Amino acid sequence: MIEIVILAAILLPVLAFSAILTSMHYPLHKDVLPGLPDLKAPRRFYEGAYRGGPPVPAEDDDYVSSAREHGRKAGIVKTVETFVKEYDLTTASALEVGCGSGLLQDLTDQYVGVDLSLSAHRFIRRPFVQASATQLPFPDGAFDAVWSIWVLEHVTNPEQALHEIRRVVKDGGYVLLRPAWDVDSWASKGYEVRPYSDFGWKGKLIKASIPVRSSRWYKLFYARQVRILRTLFTVLSGSASELRYKRLEPNYSKFWVTDSDAAVSLDFYEVFLWFHSRGDECVNCPRQKDFLFGGTGGRRETMIVRVNKSERSESRDMSFPPRHRATGFAI
Ligand SMILES: C[S@@+](CC[C@H](N)C(=O)[O-])C[C@H]1O[C@@H](n2cnc3c(N)ncnc32)[C@H](O)[C@@H]1O
Repeated sequence: MIEIVILAAILLPVLAFSAILTSMHYPLHKDVLPGLPDLKAPRRFYEGAYRGGPPVPAEDDDYVSSAREHGRKAGIVKTVETFVKEYDLTTASALEVGCGSGLLQDLTDQYVGVDLSLSAHRFIRRPFVQASATQLPFPDGAFDAVWSIWVLEHVTNPEQALHEIRRVVKDGGYVLLRPAWDVDSWASKGYEVRPYSDFGWKGKLIKASIPVRSSRWYKLFYARQVRILRTLFTVLSGSASELRYKRLEPNYSKFWVTDSDAAVSLDFYEVFLWFHSRGDECVNCPRQKDFLFGGTGGRRETMIVRVNKSERSESRDMSFPPRHRATGFAI
């Protein structure tokens, strides 16, 4: 009897702590529809990032050189090159959403780059279209493959972007996504890199809490629990899942750290669930139960999805009424 009391005295506070953290980290935000997000502030920011008159070497620009350095360190060219080879896409039509300074423009014969920023155009030698990921000016099924690298976290309505990306890929085509997953809420104000003296007492507390809040053991109290709840709610709804995430305050005036300009924080599993619940197949993901119960939680950086546009999968997709879809033009 005494053992049960001791066990309950230990377990109950742990369960209560876990329930509190799970409710605090449950992703409550979703796209605001109808209507398109206000793109004025991000557009101004990214126009500035790639600004310049006549074409100049990409390396002359700070934002561009740090983005390229980031890409090089992460081996992003190799990642997409391997994707192109493995899925036989060398001669395929490919769209890059958020092509930035064009690191990946030479990997397929038929490439189109899209970016919110018109000034990114000066780095692109291939067909380029200025557009938002949330309203892609292409017809349904126009591309064999779409990739998007470190972009989704900057998009105010990321589910709208996913719908658009999925719409412009052919049935059986491939999508490669590599956003920055789980961007921390403290990135926008640069808490990690600024001294304590920059902040008032509340900011000092936030800065001091970062080592704990970013530790693996702390995430054990809520990360899988949130995924299990998201799965349950999706299954119970009987239709395709609605993308949930945490909205952030993007900092468009000071680029303290990579992702100070992120607008949302997305979980890998949430995006997996979004495609999976539409009948698409993530070809490099573990099984769904490994995300929820496996040792590493199915952690990946890159998601590769084969899109399945069968009638059944389309009929499950009730979360995006056709009236919000962009009317494309032929390229
Ligand atoms: C961090 S950079 C990544 C650029 C490039 N993919 C790379 O890996 O270097 C984010 C890019 O997303 C673009 N972007 C931001 N919001 C966008 C949107 N709504 N639609 C299309 N592109 C967007 C920006 O202009 C910028 O080029």
